Amino acid sequence: MKLIEAEDVWFSYNHEVMALKGVSLGIGKGETVALIGQNGGGKTTLAKHFNGLLKPTKGRVLVKGVETRTLPANKLAFTVGYVFQNPAHQIFSSKVRDEVSFGPHNAGLSSDEVERRTAEAIEKVGLKGYEDVHPYDLDYGKQKLLTVASIMSMNPEVYCLDEPTTGQDHKGRWMVADLIHRLNDSGATVVVITHDMRFVAEVAKRVVLIADGRILADMPTKEIFEKSEMLRSAQIKPPQITELAHSLTRYNVPASILTVTEMADALQSILRLHQR
Ligand SMILES: Nc1ncnc2c1ncn2[C@@H]1O[C@H](COP(=O)(O)OP(=O)(O)OP(=O)(O)O)[C@@H](O)[C@H]1O
Ligand SMILES: [Mg+2]
Repeated sequence: MKLIEAEDVWFSYNHEVMALKGVSLGIGKGETVALIGQNGGGKTTLAKHFNGLLKPTKGRVLVKGVETRTLPANKLAFTVGYVFQNPAHQIFSSKVRDEVSFGPHNAGLSSDEVERRTAEAIEKVGLKGYEDVHPYDLDYGKQKLLTVASIMSMNPEVYCLDEPTTGQDHKGRWMVADLIHRLNDSGATVVVITHDMRFVAEVAKRVVLIADGRILADMPTKEIFEKSEMLRSAQIKPPQITELAHSLTRYNVPASILTVTEMADALQSILRLHQR
């Protein structure tokens, strides 16, 4: 059984536009999946189905085998945490600490446990020292990190992060990537929505490309960036390092390269052969 299963999901916000048109996919425990695609394609709409914020107009979504239609969203929050694209749609407390402790407190955990989880989550996203700050006094990148922390304190099995790198400087971006790796290492499943293909290459093993409410492709990250035609039609540019690899394949550089480290390794072995 997959952790999350979407079966022929259709969704319309207002009975006019169909935002999802027959989406089916399964997400297994421990996966790192990136949802990519142009603006308005349906990424957020799909992710909101994973934790029951939205229910399908037609079709069904199962979380650990149970149909989301039969579960209240606050129950699902223990299994699937969704971090909103726009932090203002999520933040409602007047202090960083209260925002992060709300979930576990509301779940009825002991005050020691609430405190422990809150401090740990705040520390992990690099907001230690900001506990008493008003969330809206944080810059946008830090607000996003705060919303991630307020999901982490719930310790869910699945994290859906809707554009976590928007507004991040280099350090913030690196911190989010590192956070995703650590969450995944500790057994969590991560679904990340992003327009940053370098970030996709760094954090996701699988990519789901969504356009106009449909899944155009669902494959390993290494494979999708080799599909130049398809990416062009979806107006997606592979990471620069992958494009460089594509232009060097006649020198035996593998086209599936995703990171600078992989490129360095490939070039070193080619040069070593050359020197012999
Ligand atoms: N609250 C809403 N009410 C009505 N229509 C909506 C609403 N939210 C989204 N839509 C429409 O649903 C479709 C899918 O939008 P969605 O936000 O899921 O796309 P997205 O892939 O997340 O885009 P982006 O990359 O801009 O975040 C779009 O046509 C959008 O205009
Ligand atoms: Mg979106």
